[in-house]
Amino acid sequence: MTSTAPQGRSAGKFHLAFIFNFTPDDWQGPFGTGGSPWDGKFHTEVAQALERACFDYVIVEDKLMVPESYGGSAEAALKQAMVVPKHDPVPLAVAMGVATSRLGIVATLSTLAYPPFMTARLSSTLDSMLGGRFGWNIVTSAEDLAAQNFGLDKLPPRDVRYEMADEYVDVVKQLFASWDADAVVLDREKGVYADHTKVRPIHFKGKYFQVRGPLNTVPSPQHRPAFVQAGASPRGRAFAARNADSIIAIANGVEGMKQFREDVRAHAKDQGRDPDTIKTLFCVTPVLGETEQDAREKQARMVSSPQFIQDILAQTSALTEIDFAQFDLDEPLPRRLETNGEQGSLDQLQQWGSGKTLRELVIDAAGGLVSSVDLVGTPDQVAERMGEVMEEVGGDGFMITTPLLRLNRRYIAEVTDGLVPALQRRGLTRSAYTPGNTLRQNLLEF
Ligand SMILES: Cc1cc2nc3c(=O)[nH]c(=O)nc-3n(C[C@H](O)[C@H](O)[C@H](O)COP(=O)(O)O)c2cc1C
Repeated sequence: MTSTAPQGRSAGKFHLAFIFNFTPDDWQGPFGTGGSPWDGKFHTEVAQALERACFDYVIVEDKLMVPESYGGSAEAALKQAMVVPKHDPVPLAVAMGVATSRLGIVATLSTLAYPPFMTARLSSTLDSMLGGRFGWNIVTSAEDLAAQNFGLDKLPPRDVRYEMADEYVDVVKQLFASWDADAVVLDREKGVYADHTKVRPIHFKGKYFQVRGPLNTVPSPQHRPAFVQAGASPRGRAFAARNADSIIAIANGVEGMKQFREDVRAHAKDQGRDPDTIKTLFCVTPVLGETEQDAREKQARMVSSPQFIQDILAQTSALTEIDFAQFDLDEPLPRRLETNGEQGSLDQLQQWGSGKTLRELVIDAAGGLVSSVDLVGTPDQVAERMGEVMEEVGGDGFMITTPLLRLNRRYIAEVTDGLVPALQRRGLTRSAYTPGNTLRQNLLEF
């Protein structure tokens, strides 16, 4: 325990969300589907299981390139199905959304790739189709290779990306507001579908975007669908604190989590927002077993495999565009590495100054690159620990993910039928959805 009390209300109940990608599942593993879940059914079933466990939302990540950073070629990424191949998140979000009725569905749309009008229209349409359960994961993209798919030679520097994204989000919000909530009147007697005095152009002319408006779809149940963001740099956190209803974060241990959340809350206050309206969810990858020893052995088996080490490095190369194949596994990294891409994921791995060899760093990052705190044990032990961690951090919840983002049904069952019931027994997470709530209302509930 630390001496300073966490800010905001005490943890009490906390939120759960789940992130997974759409590359093949754990295709080589004994519990995988064999690698061809391209019809969307696997993902739909996962969404249904998460809804049964009362998760607030599932997030569909996205990347827009075939990585070539590791070893200077696409071989590692394609051979191991790492980051690629993947499906487009939007149709998958629709499939998952129509197969569920309470779970929030969050899809990633990059400000680099979609014109703001299209993002606003897509998000609004999805929010209408899903009865107020849609969220937009706002990313700026972080790879030159992605930028080259959209007419650029190089990714703009991070500060410019966020400056563009600030303006982009303003446009999107103005487009949502271009229809008053009550613009659709459906007056059969007068023969009026929508009141034209309640629908206005926005005439937006900024540094980067020019959009006339209004939007050409109806206001959705949330009117402004929920916004999710994962900025880790100081600039990224400021952006998230300005715009997000929920933030996905990776931090180093309990102290790091607490600092991250307090930093976000301070930024939010600076911008005149109530910090309790932003829910920071920390990425964790629980390793669950029937006994503690079972879970520890499972983790040890996973991290000691040479394939695991190579996969983690190939994934890190993809996210940072730094070639990790160039470094000796049994030496410390030669210098502190920097990227215009995902610096947070990089820092999580490199633990600069620790003196550890690259192999040790990877093994340390055992749960993939996405574990803020180690959670290894039986469902009851892990649930207990999650409660303690949230109590110390002050809130707001966890984003559960998978080692290397490779999923199989067994892992989902361990989480939804082992861990979540243990959390619910302790009153730590939701055991039922409040009928009629939108995603944002679910997030604001506690
Ligand atoms: C859990 C998590 C999921 C993310 N998902 C995506 C994603 O789907 N697509 C993407 O382009 N970036 C994704 N990012 C990257 C973030 O949008 C952001 O670029 C990154 O965290 C680095 O922060 P920074 O941009 O402030 O440096 C993700 C980051 C985290 C931590």
